[in-house]
Amino acid sequence: MKRLNFPNDFIWGAATSSYQIEGAWNEDGKGESIWDRYSHTPGNVIGNETGDTACDHYHRWREDIQLMKELGLPAYRFSTAWARIYPAGRGELNQPGVDFYSRLVDGLLEAGIEPIVCLYHWDLPQALQDRGGWPARETALAYGDYADTVTRALGDRVRRWITHNEPTCAGLLGYQSGMHAPGIKDWKQALPAVHHLLLSHGLGVQAVRANVPAGQVGMVIDPLPSEPASDSPADYAAMRWVDGTHNRWYLDPLYGRGYPAEILAEHIRLGNLPKSGLDYVQDGDYELIASPTDFLGLNYYRRGVVRADEIDNVGNPVATPNPDDLHTEMGWEIHPWGLFNLIMLMHLTYRPKALYVTENGASYSDAPGADGRVRDERRIKYLRTHLAAVQQAIQAGAPLKGYFAWSLMDNFEWAMGYAQRFGMVYVDFKTQKRTPKDSALWYRKVIQNNALDIEV
Ligand code: FCB
Repeated sequence: MKRLNFPNDFIWGAATSSYQIEGAWNEDGKGESIWDRYSHTPGNVIGNETGDTACDHYHRWREDIQLMKELGLPAYRFSTAWARIYPAGRGELNQPGVDFYSRLVDGLLEAGIEPIVCLYHWDLPQALQDRGGWPARETALAYGDYADTVTRALGDRVRRWITHNEPTCAGLLGYQSGMHAPGIKDWKQALPAVHHLLLSHGLGVQAVRANVPAGQVGMVIDPLPSEPASDSPADYAAMRWVDGTHNRWYLDPLYGRGYPAEILAEHIRLGNLPKSGLDYVQDGDYELIASPTDFLGLNYYRRGVVRADEIDNVGNPVATPNPDDLHTEMGWEIHPWGLFNLIMLMHLTYRPKALYVTENGASYSDAPGADGRVRDERRIKYLRTHLAAVQQAIQAGAPLKGYFAWSLMDNFEWAMGYAQRFGMVYVDFKTQKRTPKDSALWYRKVIQNNALDIEV
Protein backbone atom coordinates (compact mmCIF):
# COMPACT_ATOMS: atom_id res chain seq x y z
CA MET A 1 0.00 0.00 0.00
CA LYS A 2 1.12 3.52 -0.75
CA ARG A 3 -0.47 6.70 0.59
CA LEU A 4 -0.91 9.63 -1.78
CA ASN A 5 -1.46 12.83 0.18
CA PHE A 6 -3.44 15.83 -0.99
CA PRO A 7 -2.69 19.49 -0.14
CA ASN A 8 -4.12 20.78 3.14
CA ASP A 9 -6.48 23.23 1.46
CA PHE A 10 -7.76 20.70 -1.09
CA ILE A 11 -11.56 20.80 -1.46
CA TRP A 12 -13.49 17.55 -1.61
CA GLY A 13 -17.09 17.42 -2.75
CA ALA A 14 -19.83 15.90 -4.85
CA ALA A 15 -21.91 17.40 -7.63
CA THR A 16 -25.49 17.34 -8.88
CA SER A 17 -27.66 19.51 -11.14
CA SER A 18 -31.13 20.95 -10.75
CA TYR A 19 -33.04 19.12 -13.49
CA GLN A 20 -31.38 15.81 -12.71
CA ILE A 21 -32.42 15.70 -9.04
CA GLU A 22 -35.06 18.25 -8.06
CA GLY A 23 -38.34 17.04 -9.59
CA ALA A 24 -41.23 19.40 -8.67
CA TRP A 25 -41.07 20.52 -12.28
CA ASN A 26 -44.16 22.74 -12.07
CA GLU A 27 -44.44 23.51 -8.37
CA ASP A 28 -44.41 26.80 -6.48
CA GLY A 29 -44.50 28.89 -9.61
CA LYS A 30 -41.67 27.24 -11.53
CA GLY A 31 -41.83 27.78 -15.29
CA GLU A 32 -41.32 25.13 -17.96
CA SER A 33 -37.73 24.52 -19.03
CA ILE A 34 -36.44 23.11 -22.31
CA TRP A 35 -35.74 19.83 -20.50
CA ASP A 36 -39.36 19.64 -19.30
CA ARG A 37 -40.54 20.16 -22.88
CA TYR A 38 -37.96 17.80 -24.37
CA SER A 39 -38.57 14.94 -21.92
CA HIS A 40 -42.35 15.33 -22.22
CA THR A 41 -42.05 14.86 -25.98
CA PRO A 42 -42.16 11.10 -26.70
CA GLY A 43 -39.13 9.56 -28.35
CA ASN A 44 -36.45 11.86 -26.92
CA VAL A 45 -35.49 10.07 -23.71
CA ILE A 46 -35.04 6.32 -23.32
CA GLY A 47 -38.30 4.87 -22.00
CA ASN A 48 -39.84 8.36 -22.30
CA GLU A 49 -38.67 9.02 -18.77
CA THR A 50 -38.76 12.55 -17.40
CA GLY A 51 -37.31 14.61 -14.56
CA ASP A 52 -40.81 15.39 -13.27
CA THR A 53 -40.01 13.73 -9.94
CA ALA A 54 -36.36 12.68 -10.32
CA CYS A 55 -34.88 12.32 -6.79
CA ASP A 56 -37.61 14.56 -5.36
CA HIS A 57 -34.81 16.65 -3.93
CA TYR A 58 -37.04 19.73 -3.99
CA HIS A 59 -38.96 18.16 -1.11
CA ARG A 60 -36.21 16.04 0.41
CA TRP A 61 -33.37 18.56 0.53
CA ARG A 62 -33.14 18.44 4.33
CA GLU A 63 -32.69 14.67 4.25
CA ASP A 64 -30.13 15.05 1.46
CA ILE A 65 -28.10 17.59 3.44
CA GLN A 66 -28.16 15.19 6.39
CA LEU A 67 -26.88 12.46 4.10
CA MET A 68 -24.04 14.67 2.86
CA LYS A 69 -23.15 15.45 6.44
CA GLU A 70 -23.01 11.77 7.32
CA LEU A 71 -20.79 11.19 4.31
CA GLY A 72 -18.42 13.88 5.54
CA LEU A 73 -18.65 16.02 2.41
CA PRO A 74 -16.95 19.40 2.88
CA ALA A 75 -18.44 20.91 -0.30
CA TYR A 76 -21.45 20.45 -2.55
CA ARG A 77 -21.77 21.66 -6.12
CA PHE A 78 -25.36 22.13 -7.33
CA SER A 79 -27.14 24.25 -9.91
CA THR A 80 -30.01 26.71 -9.73
CA ALA A 81 -32.95 26.23 -12.09
CA TRP A 82 -33.40 29.48 -13.99
CA ALA A 83 -37.12 28.75 -14.58
CA ARG A 84 -37.69 28.44 -10.82
CA ILE A 85 -36.41 31.98 -10.39
CA TYR A 86 -37.68 33.56 -13.62
CA PRO A 87 -40.51 31.30 -14.88
CA ALA A 88 -40.53 33.09 -18.24
CA GLY A 89 -36.75 33.50 -18.31
CA ARG A 90 -36.93 37.23 -17.66
CA GLY A 91 -39.37 39.75 -16.26
CA GLU A 92 -41.32 38.60 -13.26
CA LEU A 93 -39.34 37.06 -10.41
CA ASN A 94 -40.71 33.98 -8.64
CA GLN A 95 -39.76 34.56 -5.00
CA PRO A 96 -40.49 30.96 -3.85
CA GLY A 97 -37.78 29.79 -6.27
CA VAL A 98 -35.22 32.15 -4.74
CA ASP A 99 -36.35 31.12 -1.25
CA PHE A 100 -35.83 27.44 -2.05
CA TYR A 101 -32.16 27.98 -2.91
CA SER A 102 -31.70 30.36 -0.02
CA ARG A 103 -32.96 27.72 2.44
CA LEU A 104 -30.77 25.10 0.79
CA VAL A 105 -27.69 27.31 1.16
CA ASP A 106 -28.52 28.01 4.81
CA GLY A 107 -29.05 24.31 5.47
CA LEU A 108 -25.71 23.43 3.88
CA LEU A 109 -23.85 26.06 5.86
CA GLU A 110 -25.47 24.90 9.08
CA ALA A 111 -24.23 21.40 8.27
CA GLY A 112 -20.73 22.74 7.67
CA ILE A 113 -20.86 22.11 3.91
CA GLU A 114 -19.68 24.75 1.46
CA PRO A 115 -22.30 25.45 -1.24
CA ILE A 116 -20.86 25.95 -4.71
CA VAL A 117 -23.44 27.27 -7.13
CA CYS A 118 -23.58 26.68 -10.86
CA LEU A 119 -25.91 29.14 -12.58
CA TYR A 120 -26.67 27.06 -15.63
CA HIS A 121 -26.78 23.31 -16.05
CA TRP A 122 -28.79 23.14 -19.28
CA ASP A 123 -32.36 23.89 -18.12
CA LEU A 124 -33.13 27.04 -20.10
CA PRO A 125 -36.62 28.45 -19.54
CA GLN A 126 -38.78 27.26 -22.45
CA ALA A 127 -40.15 30.79 -22.87
CA LEU A 128 -36.67 31.92 -23.91
CA GLN A 129 -36.31 29.01 -26.31
CA ASP A 130 -39.62 30.10 -27.84
CA ARG A 131 -37.98 33.47 -28.52
CA GLY A 132 -34.98 31.86 -30.21
CA GLY A 133 -33.06 30.19 -27.37
CA TRP A 134 -29.27 30.41 -27.17
CA PRO A 135 -28.90 31.21 -30.90
CA ALA A 136 -30.54 34.55 -29.99
CA ARG A 137 -28.39 37.22 -28.37
CA GLU A 138 -31.34 38.20 -26.17
CA THR A 139 -30.90 34.95 -24.21
CA ALA A 140 -27.40 35.95 -23.13
CA LEU A 141 -28.72 39.30 -21.93
CA ALA A 142 -31.52 37.58 -20.00
CA TYR A 143 -28.91 35.30 -18.42
CA GLY A 144 -27.05 38.41 -17.27
CA ASP A 145 -30.14 39.60 -15.39
CA TYR A 146 -30.76 36.15 -13.94
CA ALA A 147 -27.11 35.87 -12.80
CA ASP A 148 -27.38 39.30 -11.22
CA THR A 149 -30.49 38.23 -9.28
CA VAL A 150 -29.03 34.95 -8.01
CA THR A 151 -25.67 36.41 -7.02
CA ARG A 152 -27.44 39.24 -5.15
CA ALA A 153 -29.71 36.76 -3.34
CA LEU A 154 -27.05 34.21 -2.35
CA GLY A 155 -23.79 36.13 -2.64
CA ASP A 156 -23.68 36.95 1.07
CA ARG A 157 -23.28 33.22 1.75
CA VAL A 158 -21.93 31.59 -1.43
CA ARG A 159 -18.31 32.30 -2.27
CA ARG A 160 -17.56 30.07 -5.26
CA TRP A 161 -19.63 30.46 -8.44
CA ILE A 162 -19.77 28.61 -11.73
CA THR A 163 -21.29 30.45 -14.69
CA HIS A 164 -21.97 27.45 -16.92
CA ASN A 165 -21.69 23.70 -17.01
CA GLU A 166 -20.26 22.31 -20.26
CA PRO A 167 -21.27 24.88 -22.89
CA THR A 168 -20.06 22.32 -25.43
CA CYS A 169 -22.95 20.06 -24.52
CA ALA A 170 -25.46 22.88 -24.14
CA GLY A 171 -24.44 24.24 -27.53
CA LEU A 172 -23.60 21.19 -29.63
CA LEU A 173 -25.81 18.46 -28.14
CA GLY A 174 -28.68 20.93 -27.85
CA TYR A 175 -28.47 22.66 -31.23
CA GLN A 176 -26.25 20.57 -33.48
CA SER A 177 -26.69 16.84 -32.80
CA GLY A 178 -30.12 17.29 -31.19
CA MET A 179 -29.36 14.63 -28.61
CA HIS A 180 -30.28 17.03 -25.81
CA ALA A 181 -32.93 19.69 -25.35
CA PRO A 182 -34.08 21.60 -27.31
CA GLY A 183 -33.26 18.88 -29.86
CA ILE A 184 -32.23 21.08 -32.79
CA LYS A 185 -29.87 19.78 -35.48
CA ASP A 186 -28.40 22.78 -37.21
CA TRP A 187 -24.82 24.05 -37.17
CA LYS A 188 -26.12 27.46 -38.21
CA GLN A 189 -27.93 27.68 -34.89
CA ALA A 190 -25.34 25.79 -32.85
CA LEU A 191 -22.44 28.16 -33.51
CA PRO A 192 -24.31 31.36 -32.54
CA ALA A 193 -25.69 29.39 -29.55
CA VAL A 194 -22.13 28.66 -28.43
CA HIS A 195 -21.18 32.30 -28.86
CA HIS A 196 -24.06 33.49 -26.74
CA LEU A 197 -23.33 30.89 -24.07
CA LEU A 198 -19.77 32.23 -23.90
CA LEU A 199 -20.98 35.81 -23.92
CA SER A 200 -23.38 35.09 -21.08
CA HIS A 201 -20.48 33.57 -19.14
CA GLY A 202 -18.82 37.00 -19.32
CA LEU A 203 -22.00 38.59 -17.97
CA GLY A 204 -22.06 35.99 -15.20
CA VAL A 205 -18.48 36.87 -14.26
CA GLN A 206 -19.48 40.54 -14.10
CA ALA A 207 -22.45 39.71 -11.86
CA VAL A 208 -20.23 37.85 -9.40
CA ARG A 209 -17.66 40.68 -9.41
CA ALA A 210 -20.39 43.24 -8.74
CA ASN A 211 -22.36 41.36 -6.10
CA VAL A 212 -19.84 39.07 -4.40
CA PRO A 213 -16.70 41.13 -3.87
CA ALA A 214 -14.79 38.31 -2.17
CA GLY A 215 -16.22 35.72 -4.55
CA GLN A 216 -14.52 33.45 -7.01
CA VAL A 217 -15.93 32.60 -10.40
CA GLY A 218 -15.13 30.33 -13.30
CA MET A 219 -16.63 28.12 -15.96
CA VAL A 220 -16.96 24.35 -16.06
CA ILE A 221 -16.01 22.74 -19.31
CA ASP A 222 -15.56 19.19 -20.59
CA PRO A 223 -12.64 19.17 -22.99
CA LEU A 224 -12.03 15.83 -24.61
CA PRO A 225 -8.32 14.99 -24.47
CA SER A 226 -8.05 13.57 -27.96
CA GLU A 227 -5.69 11.23 -29.68
CA PRO A 228 -5.60 9.87 -33.23
CA ALA A 229 -6.54 6.20 -33.42
CA SER A 230 -3.58 5.49 -35.67
CA ASP A 231 -0.60 7.22 -37.24
CA SER A 232 -2.49 7.88 -40.48
CA PRO A 233 -2.60 11.56 -41.58
CA ALA A 234 -6.38 11.29 -41.93
CA ASP A 235 -6.83 10.22 -38.30
CA TYR A 236 -4.50 12.97 -37.19
CA ALA A 237 -6.45 15.59 -39.14
CA ALA A 238 -9.69 14.25 -37.70
CA MET A 239 -8.25 14.52 -34.20
CA ARG A 240 -7.36 18.17 -34.84
CA TRP A 241 -10.93 18.82 -35.95
CA VAL A 242 -12.39 17.21 -32.82
CA ASP A 243 -9.93 19.06 -30.61
CA GLY A 244 -10.80 22.28 -32.43
CA THR A 245 -14.58 21.97 -32.39
CA HIS A 246 -14.93 20.45 -28.91
CA ASN A 247 -12.11 22.07 -26.99
CA ARG A 248 -10.34 25.04 -28.51
CA TRP A 249 -13.52 26.64 -29.89
CA TYR A 250 -14.46 27.30 -26.24
CA LEU A 251 -11.18 27.60 -24.44
CA ASP A 252 -9.38 29.89 -26.87
CA PRO A 253 -11.97 32.69 -26.64
CA LEU A 254 -12.24 32.24 -22.87
CA TYR A 255 -8.53 32.89 -22.59
CA GLY A 256 -8.48 35.86 -24.96
CA ARG A 257 -7.40 34.13 -28.15
CA GLY A 258 -10.63 34.37 -30.14
CA TYR A 259 -12.00 31.46 -32.16
CA PRO A 260 -9.33 29.18 -33.71
CA ALA A 261 -8.78 30.41 -37.27
CA GLU A 262 -8.38 27.06 -39.01
CA ILE A 263 -11.55 25.67 -37.44
CA LEU A 264 -13.44 28.81 -38.43
CA ALA A 265 -12.23 28.42 -42.01
CA GLU A 266 -13.35 24.79 -41.99
CA HIS A 267 -16.81 25.70 -40.64
CA ILE A 268 -17.20 28.18 -43.50
CA ARG A 269 -15.95 25.65 -46.06
CA LEU A 270 -18.45 23.07 -44.79
CA GLY A 271 -21.27 25.59 -44.94
CA ASN A 272 -21.78 25.53 -41.15
CA LEU A 273 -21.33 29.29 -41.21
CA PRO A 274 -22.08 31.75 -44.03
CA LYS A 275 -19.17 33.09 -46.11
CA SER A 276 -19.34 36.24 -44.02
CA GLY A 277 -18.29 34.07 -41.05
CA LEU A 278 -18.94 35.20 -37.51
CA ASP A 279 -21.52 37.87 -38.28
CA TYR A 280 -23.17 37.31 -34.89
CA VAL A 281 -20.08 38.59 -33.07
CA GLN A 282 -20.33 42.22 -31.97
CA ASP A 283 -17.74 44.74 -30.85
CA GLY A 284 -16.63 44.09 -27.31
CA ASP A 285 -17.81 40.46 -27.25
CA TYR A 286 -14.35 38.95 -27.15
CA GLU A 287 -13.31 41.17 -24.26
CA LEU A 288 -16.40 40.22 -22.30
CA ILE A 289 -15.94 36.49 -22.97
CA ALA A 290 -12.32 36.73 -21.83
CA SER A 291 -13.19 38.48 -18.54
CA PRO A 292 -10.57 37.28 -16.06
CA THR A 293 -11.74 34.33 -13.96
CA ASP A 294 -10.47 32.69 -10.80
CA PHE A 295 -10.56 29.08 -11.90
CA LEU A 296 -11.41 26.63 -14.64
CA GLY A 297 -13.57 23.60 -13.78
CA LEU A 298 -12.93 20.38 -15.66
CA ASN A 299 -15.44 17.58 -16.11
CA TYR A 300 -13.70 14.39 -17.15
CA TYR A 301 -15.12 10.97 -17.96
CA ARG A 302 -13.10 9.67 -20.92
CA ARG A 303 -10.61 10.55 -23.62
CA GLY A 304 -11.42 10.88 -27.32
CA VAL A 305 -9.86 8.34 -29.66
CA VAL A 306 -10.47 9.70 -33.11
CA ARG A 307 -10.63 7.72 -36.34
CA ALA A 308 -11.32 9.67 -39.53
CA ASP A 309 -13.93 7.22 -40.79
CA GLU A 310 -15.73 7.09 -37.46
CA ILE A 311 -16.61 10.71 -36.98
CA ASP A 312 -20.34 11.15 -37.30
CA ASN A 313 -21.77 13.59 -39.79
CA VAL A 314 -21.72 16.43 -37.32
CA GLY A 315 -18.13 16.00 -36.22
CA ASN A 316 -18.38 13.92 -33.07
CA PRO A 317 -15.79 11.23 -32.47
CA VAL A 318 -17.44 7.86 -32.42
CA ALA A 319 -14.38 5.66 -32.58
CA THR A 320 -14.47 2.78 -30.15
CA PRO A 321 -11.19 2.46 -28.33
CA ASN A 322 -9.54 -0.94 -28.17
CA PRO A 323 -12.16 -3.58 -27.47
CA ASP A 324 -10.08 -4.97 -24.64
CA ASP A 325 -10.17 -1.67 -22.81
CA LEU A 326 -12.57 -1.40 -19.93
CA HIS A 327 -15.75 0.57 -20.27
CA THR A 328 -18.40 1.73 -17.84
CA GLU A 329 -22.07 1.00 -18.45
CA MET A 330 -22.33 4.30 -20.38
CA GLY A 331 -20.01 2.66 -22.89
CA TRP A 332 -17.34 5.20 -21.95
CA GLU A 333 -13.77 3.96 -21.93
CA ILE A 334 -12.00 4.01 -18.58
CA HIS A 335 -8.76 5.90 -19.01
CA PRO A 336 -7.51 7.57 -15.82
CA TRP A 337 -4.36 8.96 -17.37
CA GLY A 338 -6.55 10.96 -19.74
CA LEU A 339 -7.42 13.00 -16.67
CA PHE A 340 -3.76 13.61 -15.89
CA ASN A 341 -3.18 14.62 -19.52
CA LEU A 342 -6.17 16.93 -19.50
CA ILE A 343 -5.19 18.72 -16.30
CA MET A 344 -1.63 19.22 -17.50
CA LEU A 345 -2.74 20.32 -20.95
CA MET A 346 -5.11 22.92 -19.52
CA HIS A 347 -2.53 24.09 -17.00
CA LEU A 348 0.24 24.48 -19.57
CA THR A 349 -1.87 25.84 -22.44
CA TYR A 350 -4.16 28.34 -20.71
CA ARG A 351 -2.54 28.88 -17.30
CA PRO A 352 -5.77 29.31 -15.30
CA LYS A 353 -5.14 30.58 -11.76
CA ALA A 354 -6.72 27.44 -10.36
CA LEU A 355 -8.23 24.23 -11.66
CA TYR A 356 -10.89 21.99 -10.16
CA VAL A 357 -12.13 18.61 -11.28
CA THR A 358 -15.80 19.57 -11.11
CA GLU A 359 -17.13 16.19 -12.27
CA ASN A 360 -15.70 12.71 -12.55
CA GLY A 361 -17.43 9.40 -12.01
CA ALA A 362 -18.77 6.18 -13.48
CA SER A 363 -22.09 4.61 -14.34
CA TYR A 364 -22.64 1.16 -12.86
CA SER A 365 -26.03 -0.29 -11.97
CA ASP A 366 -25.04 -2.18 -8.80
CA ALA A 367 -28.10 -2.39 -6.55
CA PRO A 368 -28.55 -3.25 -2.86
CA GLY A 369 -27.86 -6.91 -2.08
CA ALA A 370 -29.93 -9.05 0.29
CA ASP A 371 -28.17 -7.36 3.21
CA GLY A 372 -28.98 -3.93 1.82
CA ARG A 373 -25.38 -3.13 1.00
CA VAL A 374 -24.39 -1.81 -2.45
CA ARG A 375 -21.04 -3.32 -3.36
CA ASP A 376 -19.93 -1.01 -6.17
CA GLU A 377 -16.30 -2.09 -6.26
CA ARG A 378 -15.95 -1.01 -9.90
CA ARG A 379 -16.88 2.57 -9.03
CA ILE A 380 -14.36 2.60 -6.19
CA LYS A 381 -11.71 1.42 -8.60
CA TYR A 382 -12.69 4.09 -11.11
CA LEU A 383 -12.57 6.85 -8.51
CA ARG A 384 -9.35 5.61 -6.97
CA THR A 385 -7.45 5.43 -10.25
CA HIS A 386 -8.72 8.84 -11.35
CA LEU A 387 -7.85 10.41 -8.00
CA ALA A 388 -4.36 8.99 -8.32
CA ALA A 389 -4.09 10.80 -11.65
CA VAL A 390 -5.28 14.02 -9.99
CA GLN A 391 -2.69 13.68 -7.25
CA GLN A 392 -0.01 13.06 -9.86
CA ALA A 393 -0.98 16.26 -11.70
CA ILE A 394 -0.69 18.20 -8.44
CA GLN A 395 2.77 16.71 -7.94
CA ALA A 396 3.63 17.82 -11.46
CA GLY A 397 2.77 21.41 -10.61
CA ALA A 398 -0.83 21.88 -11.74
CA PRO A 399 -2.81 24.30 -9.50
CA LEU A 400 -5.53 21.71 -8.95
CA LYS A 401 -7.51 22.82 -5.91
CA GLY A 402 -10.41 20.42 -5.53
CA TYR A 403 -12.32 17.37 -6.74
CA PHE A 404 -16.06 16.79 -7.08
CA ALA A 405 -17.38 13.32 -7.69
CA TRP A 406 -20.29 12.94 -10.09
CA SER A 407 -22.64 12.31 -8.58
CA LEU A 408 -23.86 12.55 -5.03
CA MET A 409 -26.76 10.26 -5.89
CA ASP A 410 -28.27 8.35 -8.80
CA ASN A 411 -30.35 10.71 -10.91
CA PHE A 412 -31.95 11.50 -14.24
CA GLU A 413 -29.17 10.97 -16.75
CA TRP A 414 -30.54 13.17 -19.55
CA ALA A 415 -31.40 11.27 -22.74
CA MET A 416 -30.52 8.00 -20.99
CA GLY A 417 -33.22 8.44 -18.36
CA TYR A 418 -32.78 6.54 -15.10
CA ALA A 419 -30.95 3.56 -16.59
CA GLN A 420 -27.50 5.00 -15.97
CA ARG A 421 -26.57 5.27 -12.31
CA PHE A 422 -23.65 7.56 -11.52
CA GLY A 423 -24.43 8.06 -7.82
CA MET A 424 -22.33 7.25 -4.77
CA VAL A 425 -25.71 7.00 -3.09
CA TYR A 426 -28.24 4.53 -4.47
CA VAL A 427 -31.72 5.92 -5.08
CA ASP A 428 -34.73 3.63 -5.25
CA PHE A 429 -36.85 5.78 -7.56
CA LYS A 430 -40.09 4.04 -6.46
CA THR A 431 -39.69 4.77 -2.75
CA GLN A 432 -37.06 7.55 -2.94
CA LYS A 433 -35.04 5.64 -0.36
CA ARG A 434 -31.36 6.64 -0.37
CA THR A 435 -28.65 4.07 0.42
CA PRO A 436 -24.98 5.08 0.48
CA LYS A 437 -23.05 2.67 -1.71
CA ASP A 438 -19.67 1.26 -0.68
CA SER A 439 -18.08 3.98 -2.83
CA ALA A 440 -19.64 6.71 -0.66
CA LEU A 441 -18.19 5.09 2.48
CA TRP A 442 -14.84 4.70 0.77
CA TYR A 443 -14.91 8.35 -0.36
CA ARG A 444 -15.65 9.43 3.21
CA LYS A 445 -12.42 7.79 4.32
CA VAL A 446 -10.41 9.43 1.56
CA ILE A 447 -11.78 12.81 2.65
CA GLN A 448 -11.07 12.10 6.33
CA ASN A 449 -7.48 11.10 5.56
CA ASN A 450 -7.06 13.79 2.90
CA ALA A 451 -5.16 10.99 1.23
CA LEU A 452 -5.63 8.08 -1.09
CA ASP A 453 -4.36 4.60 -0.33
CA ILE A 454 -3.38 2.69 -3.44
CA GLU A 455 -1.96 -0.74 -3.96
CA VAL A 456 1.52 -0.82 -5.43
C1 FCB B 1 -21.87 15.45 -17.73
C2 FCB B 1 -22.99 16.31 -17.18
C3 FCB B 1 -23.66 15.76 -15.98
C4 FCB B 1 -23.84 14.25 -16.06
C5 FCB B 1 -22.55 13.56 -16.47
C6 FCB B 1 -22.63 12.08 -16.54
O1 FCB B 1 -21.66 15.74 -19.07
O2 FCB B 1 -22.50 17.60 -16.86
O3 FCB B 1 -24.87 16.44 -15.81
O4 FCB B 1 -24.87 13.94 -16.89
O5 FCB B 1 -22.10 14.07 -17.69
